[in-house]
Amino acid sequence: MTTTTSSPTTPFAHLPTRIRLGDLEVTRLGFGAMRLPGKEVWGEPDDPARARAVLRRAVDLGVDLIDTAWFYGPHVANRLIAEALHPYPKHLVIACKLGGKRLPDKSWASYIRPEELRAGCEEDLRTLKLDRLDVVHLRYRKTDVPFAESLDAMIGLQKEGKVRHIALSNVAVAEVEEALARTPIVAVQNMFNVNGGGGQLAKMTHSEVESPEAVVDFCERKGIAYLPYFPLAVGAIGSQNSGLAKVAARKKATAAQVALAWLLARSKIMLPIPGTGSLEHLEENWASRRIALDAEDRAELARGTA
Ligand SMILES: NC(=O)c1ccc[n+]([C@@H]2O[C@H](COP(=O)([O-])OP(=O)(O)OC[C@H]3O[C@@H](n4cnc5c(N)ncnc54)[C@H](OP(=O)(O)O)[C@@H]3O)[C@@H](O)[C@H]2O)c1
Repeated sequence: MTTTTSSPTTPFAHLPTRIRLGDLEVTRLGFGAMRLPGKEVWGEPDDPARARAVLRRAVDLGVDLIDTAWFYGPHVANRLIAEALHPYPKHLVIACKLGGKRLPDKSWASYIRPEELRAGCEEDLRTLKLDRLDVVHLRYRKTDVPFAESLDAMIGLQKEGKVRHIALSNVAVAEVEEALARTPIVAVQNMFNVNGGGGQLAKMTHSEVESPEAVVDFCERKGIAYLPYFPLAVGAIGSQNSGLAKVAARKKATAAQVALAWLLARSKIMLPIPGTGSLEHLEENWASRRIALDAEDRAELARGTA
């Protein structure tokens, strides 16, 4: 397993090491907080002290982007982040998401009407103990609410000073273009990993978008950061691509590390946000930034998807 502990400023094997989010700049490997609450992203974790330790260690290692949402738990991920890290280091960027909520049966529901986005924003501000949210994704899911109406609400929140930068999640190129015609967009967050952006997992989690690869390429052309969610297929990536084990053996790495390295190599705008509640996996994931993949490795991974 590759677990080098070089300083966060050590260049990534696949450059660039840093990426811009509007007037902010972060290292191109972040942390997803969705795995910190209890099972099924619901309630308290078995060991809240360990969850806080994971967050502190992430920042110590050099992670300076944490992705979260008030509805993870609900409220639990944000509360753990505030308990572990508030007052936040100046360089830390916390990215949030609006557009979803949880129902009492633990299912995920849309919460995307203007007044719902506003209510969600207040939840994020309160639970993260912030006056302004750095990066807020509009997490889109087709409903009877037109995309433009939700986007307008986000622009309104930004004008009021509650949101610094607007980002989008779960969108196709058409929605990114529509948004760009109205406002700067600093990031796109869609499901994407070494197996692409579709399949069963996308279906089950309302994560399907039209032409996922085209969204990555579009973001690259526009210089928009791309945060692939489910970068490890919720921990199952190793069993879903037969090439991962082969390349991992060559690199003396793990399948998860190769899957993250593949994302970093896929595009200079890629900013993976693997989620974990484990210190060991956190260190392992962070070390993936040092793994260089050549054309032969990538061909192996492309064959492994089939
Ligand atoms: N915009 C959206 O709609 C949306 C949707 C889903 C997720 N997200 C964001 O994306 C982030 C990443 O997605 P995710 O956390 O759901 O899935 P993921 O990163 O693909 O996988 C996380 C799972 O993989 C396991 N894992 C992590 N590192 C590992 C390693 N090195 N080896 C083996 N297993 C490992 C974790 O278990 P352990 O805890 O045991 O390590 C966890 O169960 C989330 O945290 C969230 O911030 C956004």
